[in-house]
Amino acid sequence: MEKRSSFSSRIGFVLAAAGSAVGLGNIWRFPYLAAKYGGGIFLLVYVLLVVTFGFSLMVAEIALGRKTGLSVIGAYRSLNRKWAFLGVLSAIVPIIIVPYYSVIGGWVTKYFADFVTGMGAATAGDAYFSSFISNDWMPLIWLAVFIGLTFVTVLTGVQKGIEKVSKFLMPVLVLLTIAVTIYSITLPGAMEGVAYYFKPDFSKFSIETVLAAMGQMFYSMSLAMGIMVTYGSYMGKKENLEKSVKQIEYFDTGIALLAGLMIVPAVFVFSGGDQAALSQGPSLMFNTMPKVFHSMGPAGNVIGALFFLLVLFAALTSAISLMETVVSIFCDKFHISRKKSCFITLAIIILLALPSSFGFGMWSHIQWDGKTILDIFDFISNSVLMPIVALLTCIFIGYVIKPKAITDEVELSAKFRRKKLFEVFIKYIAPVIVAAILICSVLQGVG
Ligand code: PHE
Repeated sequence: MEKRSSFSSRIGFVLAAAGSAVGLGNIWRFPYLAAKYGGGIFLLVYVLLVVTFGFSLMVAEIALGRKTGLSVIGAYRSLNRKWAFLGVLSAIVPIIIVPYYSVIGGWVTKYFADFVTGMGAATAGDAYFSSFISNDWMPLIWLAVFIGLTFVTVLTGVQKGIEKVSKFLMPVLVLLTIAVTIYSITLPGAMEGVAYYFKPDFSKFSIETVLAAMGQMFYSMSLAMGIMVTYGSYMGKKENLEKSVKQIEYFDTGIALLAGLMIVPAVFVFSGGDQAALSQGPSLMFNTMPKVFHSMGPAGNVIGALFFLLVLFAALTSAISLMETVVSIFCDKFHISRKKSCFITLAIIILLALPSSFGFGMWSHIQWDGKTILDIFDFISNSVLMPIVALLTCIFIGYVIKPKAITDEVELSAKFRRKKLFEVFIKYIAPVIVAAILICSVLQGVG
């Protein structure tokens, strides 16, 4: 059997994990949620959740991976055979997500290419996006480009592929985000949008705010799907685990906050303060933003190209972490080589990505409760499986293997400063809140 791969440095690990965390969720979901749920108050709740709940779960997952040196199925199994099913359940999540995430990654690639070749203006047309995605074959070409880039990186290996790529893409992503943000907040009239984004609106605060922030936190931090377990298994025993988690959080939350500053004021100026323009998901990214860039005149092409490049980088590093998680599961489970596992994973991704893509064109009649095929995959993974996995993980750690198993692992390298907080959250607070999210999201999704 091949020797298990590893990251060469702590910073390599942090950048790769941050690469996983920073993704489409930071850019197309976070700004919208902040705008919808009362600006500053949402930001405050979100940050509090990240440093308590998110922190505890991320520490737990990374420690689980590092302790066992295995990907997610093996990790749970090796600690308790009866709980092997939890590993399997976690493993299903990335297998479902990576294909449809790649479809969207393909769209981003296409828009980037449009802006770079000077065709950005066309994307501002009303029907441009819908006619592109409903075309049966065009999206597949861009899907292939996106999957190709992801595949080559993962195939090249953990150190030479994932770590190297993350070390380059993540700093560039930060610079691009800062550059576009500065441009955006200096637009005439932008300050009103900035105020709208930061000013707490208590009238919009409710339990729903907390649930929305919680759901976003899971997704954004790439928790409850085995990714952090896998990346943790490539982390050296001597590296400071707690510090790494903090740095990943700074990255993820920092980029989310900046994304809001980049998008909210620009959309505000463009739409004259109409909140509806800040809709969530594909329509913000692929309908509204191109119109915003178009309204900027000639500068719009450059800003648009930079914007889609940063989105592409964010999506790529996330897709890489998803694919790596699946690849490592097959390697561990079936004792096959990395290369073989990469090709099997690629085949699965293609097989599942095709229906997601066709769901907007020739298979658009296949719907469930108004959801397209892509939305169905998204609903099953994010609204159903992830909260279940998170809940069971808390129970598993809090009551089956006991928090000590994790805190000992963290303390191999350095004192665990927030140990008490970790224990209380994993055992008592997290399970209750996750159960609430699960119930709400299933009711919302089906209702
Ligand atoms: N964390 C990523 C984001 O914020 C999304 C993601 C989800 C990445 C699942 C990998 C796996 O967009």
